[in-house]
Order: sequence, then structure tokens, then C-alpha cells
Amino acid sequence: MAFPANRLRRLRRTETLRALVRETRLTPESFVYPLFVCPGEGIRKEVRSMPGVFNLSVDEVVQEVRAARSLGVLSVILFGLPEKKDEVATGAWAEDGIVQRAARAIKREVRDVVVIGDVCLCEYMSHGHCGIVKANDKANDHAGPQSLGAAAAAPPLTAEYEIVNDASLELLARTSVSLARAGVDVIAPSDMMDGRVGAIRAALDLAGFENTPILAYAAKFASGFYGPFREAADSTPQFGDRRSYQMDPANLHEAMREIELDIEEGADMIMVKPAMPYLDVIAAARNSFDLPLAAYQVSGEYAMIEAAARNNWIDRERVIMESLVSIRRAGAGIILTYYAQQAAKLLA
Ligand code: PBG
Repeated sequence: MAFPANRLRRLRRTETLRALVRETRLTPESFVYPLFVCPGEGIRKEVRSMPGVFNLSVDEVVQEVRAARSLGVLSVILFGLPEKKDEVATGAWAEDGIVQRAARAIKREVRDVVVIGDVCLCEYMSHGHCGIVKANDKANDHAGPQSLGAAAAAPPLTAEYEIVNDASLELLARTSVSLARAGVDVIAPSDMMDGRVGAIRAALDLAGFENTPILAYAAKFASGFYGPFREAADSTPQFGDRRSYQMDPANLHEAMREIELDIEEGADMIMVKPAMPYLDVIAAARNSFDLPLAAYQVSGEYAMIEAAARNNWIDRERVIMESLVSIRRAGAGIILTYYAQQAAKLLA
């Protein structure tokens, strides 16, 4: 017998009433703006599959951070495109690495900005994987790292190669310390090796960075939505895929275990990635854990909105805000998004 006494439409009648009862709000200071740093000067090269997103040289990155900062976006996360790649990801941990240089420049020139360093090896490895690769002779005699190209076409049932976990931890820890030395405020490992948060925490503490927090990409799924990022960061694996280290998209309970372990190892903040296809994981994480929770609206999510908007199939601004509010409503207090600047403008 609720109707006609109960009429939920009463509170939807005007924008002022709707604003009064609105449950979820977006604020620019909860956005993190991802930036791709490349070598050179004065470079602003648009990413083909992410119109509106650029590879930026260090000087341009500083400008971009300044522009975002003036709109109220206080945090950025940096990804690097190194001059050259090798089998030990030298560019990731070199003192004059591209992200290290960008971090120093931002810290020197922009006040009060949180610089987050994405810690992963894939952008710096010649093979594009997030850890050290070892050919597995037992599984397949003729398979050396050179002959692995075929694996991309048809994934083998037996592992022809392996992404070695424990040896990779050392490089991730070295990268983290190097970034902290360059002035990075928050270390964000996105590699999905087991035990990396603990290894990074120990290395940071040993180097005197016990106050540098870790934002763990705790539940990172092996997702097709990363496609455009791999073009932006030039990090496509040269053979195989990332399914032996990133999570199976089908698994929610395992995501909770991943998060729990990262917290035990010392994570200060946790992340779910991608965002919109995994709102249930965000909501479950929010219910189970009390740490600050981030979600990453990834490149493919951005690219889909842009592609549809460019065809006039959807209203871009409306869909940007709806996508972000849905991620917030699911429980993410922090949102990594390529729309950080645009959304901040729309909120102003
Ligand atoms: C590095 C990394 C990736 C993303 C963030 N860090 C790519 C990947 O795992 O393949 C994806 C971000 C995006 O798609 O926007 N490992």
C-alpha cells in the first residue's frame, strides 16, 4: 500500500532538490591523472587509439601537471617510454630514467602535487612482459626466447616460457627506490608479481623511505581494456599474454585474497583495475577493507567513450560524468582517469 503516499519522484522534480538528496559527489582532488612521459623536448604526440591523450616530453609534462593542478587535480601518475629497452628493464631503475627525470622536474616546478610512480617493467623490457622471462626447455625443447613469437598466435597448453616471480622482485624494488630518490611521493606497483609489495616496502625502508606510501594495484585483471595503453606506453608483450600473472576476469573471491595479501605485506592504499567492468569488485573491496580504495578507469574504457562520442552516438560529457560517478558510487574514493582534467573542468 505504499503508493500513492510514497512518491519517489517528489525529490526528483527540480535540480535543486536533486542536488539536495544526491548521494555521490565527484571532486577533482580525488582524481589521479595518468601521464605518458617520452624523451625529447617540446613533444606532444597524440596516441592514435586515445584521442586527447598524448606522449609528452618532460617539459610538456610539467605544463600538463600545472594545468591539471590549476583545475584542482592534485595527483598524477607517471608512465615512461624509455629511449631503449633491454632484458633487465634498465630504463625503469636508472637514475636518469625518463620517469625519474620527469618526477624531478615536476617536483622542482609545481607546488603541492602528488606524484605517483607506476612501478612495472613491461615498458622497459625488450619483450614487453612485466617481469624477467625465462624460456622453459622442459615444456618445449626448441623454444628459446627468440622462437617465442609463435606463442602470440596460438597460446600453447604447456608453458613455453615463464615470467620468473622472485627474481623480478629485485628489479621492482630497485625501481621503487630509484623513483623515491627522484622525488616520487607514492609508489604504485602494477606488475602483479607475488610478494612485490613486501619486497618494495622492505627496500624503501632500508633506503630511508619509510614514509613513502605504497598504492598497490592489488586486484589487476588480465584485461582486453588495456589495449590502447599498450600503444600509448609501447608495452605490448612480444609473445604470449599476461594471463599467468594478472588475474582471471572471472574471479571475485581471488581478488579479495589478492587485496588481503597486499595489505598484509604493507600496502597503504589498494586499487581495482579496470573500473567500470569490475564495479562489483570495487564494491566488495569497499565492504571488506578499510584502506583508501582506488579504481583505474583504463585506456579501453576511455577509448570506447571517445569512439562513440566522436560518432555522435553518445553525449560525451554526460557519459564521462556518469562513468566516473558510477565508479565512485561503487566505492572508489580515488579514481585514476584520463578524463581527470576534463572532468575537473566540467565540475567547475
Ligand atoms: C603496466 C600497466 C598497464 C596499465 C597500467 N599499468 C598495462 C598492462 O598491464 O598491460 C594499463 C592502464 C590502461 O589501460 O589505461 N603493467
